[in-house]
Amino acid sequence: MSASSLPTVVVSAPLPADLRERLAARCSIIDVPAGQSPAQTLDAAQREALVGILCTMKTRIQRDELAALPKLKVVSNFAVGFDNIDVPAATEANVLVCNTPGVLDKAVADLTLGLLICLARNMVGGDAFVRSGQWARGAAPLTSDIRGKTLGLLGMGRIGREVARMACALGMEVIYHNRSHDEAAEREGLAQYRERDALFAESDFLSVHIPLSPSTRHGIGKREFSLMKPSAYFINTARGGVVNEAEMIEALKTGVIAGAGLDVMETEPLPGDHPLCSLSNVVLQAHVGSATVETRRAMIDLAAQNLLDAVGGTKPAAMVNPAVWEAGAAKA
Ligand code: GLV
Repeated sequence: MSASSLPTVVVSAPLPADLRERLAARCSIIDVPAGQSPAQTLDAAQREALVGILCTMKTRIQRDELAALPKLKVVSNFAVGFDNIDVPAATEANVLVCNTPGVLDKAVADLTLGLLICLARNMVGGDAFVRSGQWARGAAPLTSDIRGKTLGLLGMGRIGREVARMACALGMEVIYHNRSHDEAAEREGLAQYRERDALFAESDFLSVHIPLSPSTRHGIGKREFSLMKPSAYFINTARGGVVNEAEMIEALKTGVIAGAGLDVMETEPLPGDHPLCSLSNVVLQAHVGSATVETRRAMIDLAAQNLLDAVGGTKPAAMVNPAVWEAGAAKA
């Protein structure tokens, strides 16, 4: 096939050279900087020809974007979350949405447990204690065990279950709340189900593993923090938008909860002068749950394969709206 007869795709994600070569053998690639709208970047002929987009969470694919790209078949997100995409609008427009589930569970679970241990053992404070020379004046304050403490998981999908496995191995009691009971996890003795309020009230550490959607936006706020123990820590490696950040900051400032470990915020990148940056009971990370060399490679491999499959008419491994695929298969 000549380059001009290859299907046109936009790439708005970092592609390793070998993967770019594989993609270029089957598609005509247009690079669009991450976060920039493909519809507003391409010229009319390119918009008309575009069949696939490989993008990160920075690229917002909303109804107007979809309307401007009449031949678009697939948006392959280089992320497991897909809150940057209007999935109902994509489904209406017959555009398949793909993501990268499974390959990042362990990395995100590692970071979650890392934040938990960091909070329990005050590792950030300990680092400052040594660097400032305070150690010469006496021993560092005692911290707390995690063994025997209760970890509450809000959300029991793949990542929640991986966190439960690791926490069990560390001797923690694990409880969870989810839309549906995870009977397998209960049978395996990984975690026990609790009603939502009981989860907040009983947890020594409350970790969030739910997606951001219109129904979960700002679902955790003053009411939930006031249910928590004053000694409890809040951990979020999911999405900043599931929490009412102003109310969380108030709870952290006034001792309603003991502290927080946050990999995600409502505004990313978080500006250095943001109120969260001045709280000493908060440990912050730069949305790096999946940001290891190995995991990001597995994610981009899956995202690129999803794109190639959808463009080539093969069923992709990870579809967010499989109804679009099934409707297409039924018509074919
Ligand atoms: C990261 O946040 C992801 O959704 O993959």
